[in-house]
Amino acid sequence: MTVRSLLSSLLLLLLSSTVAAETRVRLEDDKPGPTIDKNIYGQFAEHLGRGIYGGIWVGEGSSIPNTRGMRNDVVQALKDLRIPVVRWPGGCFADQYHWRDGIGPRNQRKKTVNASWGGVVEDNAFGTHEFFDLVELLGADAYVSVNVGTGSPQEMAEWVEYMTSDAKGTLANLRRANGREKPWRLHFLGVGNEAWGCGGSMTPEYYTNVYKQFATFIKAPKDNQPLVIASGGSNKETNWTQQLLGNVKESWTLRLDGISHHYYTLPTGNWDRKGAAIGFPEEEWFSTLSRTLEIRGILASNVRVLNQLDKKNKVGFYLDEWGTWYDSAAGASQSDLYQQNSLRDAVLAALNFNAFHEVAERLRMTNIAQMVNVLQAMILTDGERMLVTPTYHAFHLYRPFQGARRIPASVRGGSDYRLGGKAIPKLSVTAAVGSDGKLYLGLVNTHPKDAEQVRVERSKPITKASGRMLTGASLDAHNTFAEPNRVRPTNVEFTAAKGTLDVAVPPRSIVVLALE
Ligand code: AHR
Repeated sequence: MTVRSLLSSLLLLLLSSTVAAETRVRLEDDKPGPTIDKNIYGQFAEHLGRGIYGGIWVGEGSSIPNTRGMRNDVVQALKDLRIPVVRWPGGCFADQYHWRDGIGPRNQRKKTVNASWGGVVEDNAFGTHEFFDLVELLGADAYVSVNVGTGSPQEMAEWVEYMTSDAKGTLANLRRANGREKPWRLHFLGVGNEAWGCGGSMTPEYYTNVYKQFATFIKAPKDNQPLVIASGGSNKETNWTQQLLGNVKESWTLRLDGISHHYYTLPTGNWDRKGAAIGFPEEEWFSTLSRTLEIRGILASNVRVLNQLDKKNKVGFYLDEWGTWYDSAAGASQSDLYQQNSLRDAVLAALNFNAFHEVAERLRMTNIAQMVNVLQAMILTDGERMLVTPTYHAFHLYRPFQGARRIPASVRGGSDYRLGGKAIPKLSVTAAVGSDGKLYLGLVNTHPKDAEQVRVERSKPITKASGRMLTGASLDAHNTFAEPNRVRPTNVEFTAAKGTLDVAVPPRSIVVLALE
């Protein structure tokens, strides 16, 4: 334990032992609920800005240490997060991506124009082989979004055959000639992206038919069938979920395993002036957290539709893009979507995790946008330099919740965080029994200045708790290449008294504890 973390543990211990508890949290750990799908902690990587090129892929000839072209520092940091799944190649990019451009000798690959993101030249160095190499390096599952907008069922069917066939057909032989003998395991296949917008400006009725046509021709071998995910709606609407569920009847040739939805958090809610990533006023700390909490209603209303129309709980809800979206910094390319990441992003991520756990019965996956250098990224790079962001640390803190069983947590008392006549809960709580059998508790304090006093009880006496805490010196505390460890977690430990645990959750913080 470092001196810093020792001091913060002592401070917490002091606060917890001297202040009367205001909020009571009761954990019903004798009544475990649904499993929190590990894929709720999924990632998304698109051909956008430096999301792939420079951020993940530097090429085999680069002076940056790499494994077959993938940066070692980034891969190692991502491995430490235990990333369960990566979605690729888009995003809007997916509906203009032709997979054949990205296979074969790299120096002979087509140079295309990335019309979705800034018209930059795409040399297709990172293609199907490189993507699967990445997910295999990470130990993650593959989620491939296929081109519906400018593609065809035939192009998709051939890509699926190229990836999954073990037969001696021309496409599998081509894969072998390109260096991969065995098929890859394709876990998830997304049929288009944002079909309502950049994926084709379709109505839900029209897309539903297009979905049926494409999905009918996904002919992967029996032992390598991907789950098939339809492109759904965004923000508060439920119409796409309704249309897809109502009109796609599964048969031996057609399946529907999930519906994807997107939700981005903008501090102002205004796409023309979204708000700054750092240097923002408290009003935008509040509005950002308040807007992100709207995800609870969005999830609940879509889950309600799914529960009505799919009583067997077969079709999952997939939030395959979410996160913060700020104004690009002055001088930065608008199409790169590169933004700084602060303590606000970490607190927001943890609020989302807690909300995701609440609908664990239906929510099968979420993918934060995006993994490296784009929007709410885990990692930022600058040439050979790399840093991990506060959001990275939030994901790291929540690792024990992957595949854990949610525990009912009832909260009594407690107060709101109020600003400008509006209020959001000051404390957000989640609890689960991890795959190691331990009871984990996640606490988020949204208040910028006030600690929250929490008394925790479970079905049997608590003796102690230990874990990690993330906070920062200011609302926009962030890491820079000069100071990459300004925001990082510290270890915390608590001793319980009379079987209950008192925790002072510091202002603007996340605390994750294992209870004993
Ligand atoms: O993540 C950036 C973009 O946001 C994606 O390409 C698109 O699907 C969404 O609108």
